[in-house]
Amino acid sequence: MTSIQAAAGSGEVGLARLEPSDGEALRRFFYRLSPETIYRRFLSPLASPDQARPERLLDVEHHEREAVVGVIAGEIVGVARYFRQPGTDTADLAVVVADDWQRQGLATRLLRALADTAVAEGVHRFSVTIQGDNRPALNLLRRLSPGVKFAISYGVAEATVPVWTENLDRFQVLRSTRELAGCSDAEIRSLLLYVDEVTVPARRRLAAEGQPTTQFLIVGKGQLRALTADGGSHLLEAGDSFGWTAMWDRSASEATVVAESDARVLVMGHGQFRAVKAVLSRQR
Ligand SMILES: CC(C)(COP(=O)(O)OP(=O)(O)OC[C@H]1O[C@@H](n2cnc3c(N)ncnc32)[C@H](O)[C@@H]1OP(=O)(O)O)[C@@H](O)C(=O)NCCC(=O)NCCS
Repeated sequence: MTSIQAAAGSGEVGLARLEPSDGEALRRFFYRLSPETIYRRFLSPLASPDQARPERLLDVEHHEREAVVGVIAGEIVGVARYFRQPGTDTADLAVVVADDWQRQGLATRLLRALADTAVAEGVHRFSVTIQGDNRPALNLLRRLSPGVKFAISYGVAEATVPVWTENLDRFQVLRSTRELAGCSDAEIRSLLLYVDEVTVPARRRLAAEGQPTTQFLIVGKGQLRALTADGGSHLLEAGDSFGWTAMWDRSASEATVVAESDARVLVMGHGQFRAVKAVLSRQR
C-alpha cells in the first residue's frame, strides 16, 4: 500500500493506493465481509470470497486500473476501484466497505480520492452496476452525483455518471501556486493525490506563530489572514499559500493564520508534502 492520506489520529482510517503486493491484506479483508456485503459487491452470493479472485483484484497499475483502500492498523477496511473500459474515457466502478465501518463516511472518502486519480488519468465517466434494492449504494451515488439516472432492468440498476470532482478545481489551484510554478502539468497532476481539501469556517485558526508547522496551505476560495506578533497582517486569497519554507525546514510557523471568511483550502501534511519534495528534487 502507498499512503495517500495519513489517518487523522489513532482509531481513524487512512487512505492508500492498493499495490499488487497487498494480496494477503486484501484476502483478509474479503474473508471478514458478511455474506450480505459480498453479495452486494459482487452481485451474486459467493460460496467463498476466493471466488472473487483476489489476484485479479490486485491487477492495478494506477492508470487504467486503480484501487484506493481505507486502512487502519495495517488492515484494509474498504476498497474503491475503477477499471477503464479499453480505449474509452469511461471506467467501471466498484466499492465495498467492511461491515463495521459502514455509515461513517468511508465510501464517500474512498470515492472522492479515486475520482481525483481518475480525472488525472483522463477517465471522465464512471459506469456502475448495482442491485436495484441496494439503498446504501444508490444513496451514495445520488449524493456524489446529484441528478444521476439509473436504468433498472431485472432488478439491476445501471448508470454512467460524470466523475465527481470536489468543489475546487484542484489542478487549477495547484497550477496557480507560486511555489509549484516550475512543475510541468504532469507533475502537478501527480500531486493531486497528495492534497486534502477542507472547508474552514471563518475565525478558525490554521497555524500558530512559533509553533511547529504541520501543514502547507493553499487558499482555494475565501480568505485567510496571516498575523505576526510584531503587528504584521497579510491577507491570503485564492491561489496564495502559506508554510512552504517551514515545511521544507520543519521549522516553526512564521505567523498565526486565521480564516478571515469561510474558506476552502488545500492542505498537505508532512507525509503528503514529501511528494512535493520528491517532485522538486527530481527537477534538480
Ligand atoms: C455501499 C457502501 C459501499 C457504502 O459505504 P459507507 O462507507 O457506508 O458509505 P458512507 O458512509 O460514505 O455513506 C453511507 C451513508 O452513511 C451516512 N454517513 C456518513 N457519515 C456518517 C456518520 N459519521 N454517521 C452516520 N452516518 C454517516 C451518509 O450520509 C450516507 O447516508 P445516506 O445513505 O443517507 O446517503 C457499503 O454499504 C457497502 O460496502 N455495501 C456493500 C457493497 C456494495 O453494495 N457496493 C456497491 C456496489 S459495487
